[in-house]
Amino acid sequence: MCGIVGYIGDKAVDTLLIVSLERLEYRGYDSAGMATLNGGKLGIRKQVGKIQILKEILKKKPLEGQLGIAHTRWATHGEPTTENAHPHTGCKNEVALVHNGIIENYAELRDELLKEGHILRTDTDTEVIAHLVEKHLNKSLLVAVQKAVKRLEGSYALAVISIKDPDKIVVARYRSPLVIGIGKNENFVASDASALLHLTSNMIFMEDGQVGFIAKRRVKVLDREGRPVEKKVKIVKWHLLGGPQKDGYRHFMLKEIHEQPAIIRNTLQRRISQGTERIYFEHTSITEEKLPSISRVIIQACGTSWHAGLVGKYLFEKYLRLHTEVDLSSEFRYRMPVVRGDTLVMAISQSGETADTLAGIRLAKSVFLDVLSLCNTIESTIARESDGVIYAFAGSEIGVASTKAYTAELLALFLLTIHWGTLKGMLSKEEAHEMVEELKKIPYYVEEMLDNQKEVLECAERYYQSSNFLFLGRRFNYPTALEGALKLKEISYIHAEGYAAGEMKHGPLALVDEKMPVVCIAPKDSVYQKMISNIREVKARKGKVIAIATRGDEEITKLVDHTIFIPPIREEFSPILAVIPLQLFAYHVAIKRGCHVDQPRNLAKSVTVE
Ligand code: G6P
Repeated sequence: MCGIVGYIGDKAVDTLLIVSLERLEYRGYDSAGMATLNGGKLGIRKQVGKIQILKEILKKKPLEGQLGIAHTRWATHGEPTTENAHPHTGCKNEVALVHNGIIENYAELRDELLKEGHILRTDTDTEVIAHLVEKHLNKSLLVAVQKAVKRLEGSYALAVISIKDPDKIVVARYRSPLVIGIGKNENFVASDASALLHLTSNMIFMEDGQVGFIAKRRVKVLDREGRPVEKKVKIVKWHLLGGPQKDGYRHFMLKEIHEQPAIIRNTLQRRISQGTERIYFEHTSITEEKLPSISRVIIQACGTSWHAGLVGKYLFEKYLRLHTEVDLSSEFRYRMPVVRGDTLVMAISQSGETADTLAGIRLAKSVFLDVLSLCNTIESTIARESDGVIYAFAGSEIGVASTKAYTAELLALFLLTIHWGTLKGMLSKEEAHEMVEELKKIPYYVEEMLDNQKEVLECAERYYQSSNFLFLGRRFNYPTALEGALKLKEISYIHAEGYAAGEMKHGPLALVDEKMPVVCIAPKDSVYQKMISNIREVKARKGKVIAIATRGDEEITKLVDHTIFIPPIREEFSPILAVIPLQLFAYHVAIKRGCHVDQPRNLAKSVTVE
């Protein structure tokens, strides 16, 4: 989390940095700051609150200079205050730096610095790095940073400037992403390529342990031992749906919800060859020859991507007869998984930067397992560190609550199941064809649901003041219940729990009374009658039921308080439809409660710390 950007060149440094920083605001928005060097002087502006506030400050008090660094913060150590905002400086104001990550031994370093007479003014772990650099600074900022990072335990992406070595920005990376952008007579650095894509396509992705610098016409990268490394410049060209504009929508989340039909349609066109109906996955070294020999899959992911993974488990078990486990990455990374050579680890991640998911990949690789990732962000760390990658092709997702990336991940899992099932001989050509034909209906169905939000709006109006919600589902839609509850709590701050409907009588039923709205995902599928029984149990306790049901289902309407219909579809694909009204419901409830939809409190889009 936290976004970092740095620039050296001839352009107006403050404007350039702000534009790039805004592209990183999804990483955190507790405070923002900037430091520039101008004629040997260090200028700093920083402020608690969003980037907009920093922008207003810069309008009144601009920062000029030939180089600068900027930061948007998601607080880990120390409250979100102006004082704790980055950039941080040492005692003598000779050094300024921005940091993403967590310094685990900061208390020990802080004590040591205090004993040496340093004056530390903030509660952050980052400030100790500024003092360490200052302590080692003689002439070369690069050498000072090399010495400082040797003392750090934890994770960091750093951009450092100093009046003593004023022609460069020194950068360092360990377990937090950092990318260098190459320009003509100008160079850039950022925690994420998306912050630089409007400036350059030529990128160097730094690796763990590397330290280096960018100057106006030079870039240098050194390895852990200080030896120069051969710089691999990658051309990053993304022509994806979705940019940083709201395109007339009130919020990014609403825009992203509405992008879903186009994303699904485009991905289907891209992945299914016309005529032969063959499904293609590029960028994967896990070959068609290898797939049939895999007999066990461990899916590991966080948040919404974990929910997609749960749907994956039901799919892989049903169609591939594959032993599939799904683990939260934060747990998986500390487990001692019992693995064999025929186990494939799948990591699912929208951002491709989630620290726990990345650690899970590294654990898998340390025991020589193949890793296949399902990522949305092209060239992200997870994509680069995996043996193979399937891209979700949802375009950049800005709203913190994931919507289009989730449905794009689901679609990728549907396609992978059909592809893999065919390779394994578990699915006949005819069945695969039928499934593909069904998938092609999805964009139209999603459009239909987006065009008619009447029931969703009515439910939002009726229940937006509720303090608690239950979401129930079974089988393929148990993950939908979890995702619906997560969406609601993320952006409206209402306590919501998702449950497997069969588990309700083992606890949650005690919560049900006439004030409790219960969202029941009950399409006409193999567990429909079981869901009906669960709905009756809720109604018997006077709970208010909102059913997500298959269009034309008269039976359910008689039983429940509200029905939101979804078009009829094969059971295994129903999660991609059932989640749409839940995304919209969460959105409309959040609006009615006056919440900040795109940037909910305390959360961030990309979680690059543990
Ligand atoms: C954060 C985001 C969620 C996301 C989760 C996992 O919590 O706010 O929307 O689901 O991280 O992120 P990933 O990028 O790995 O899918």
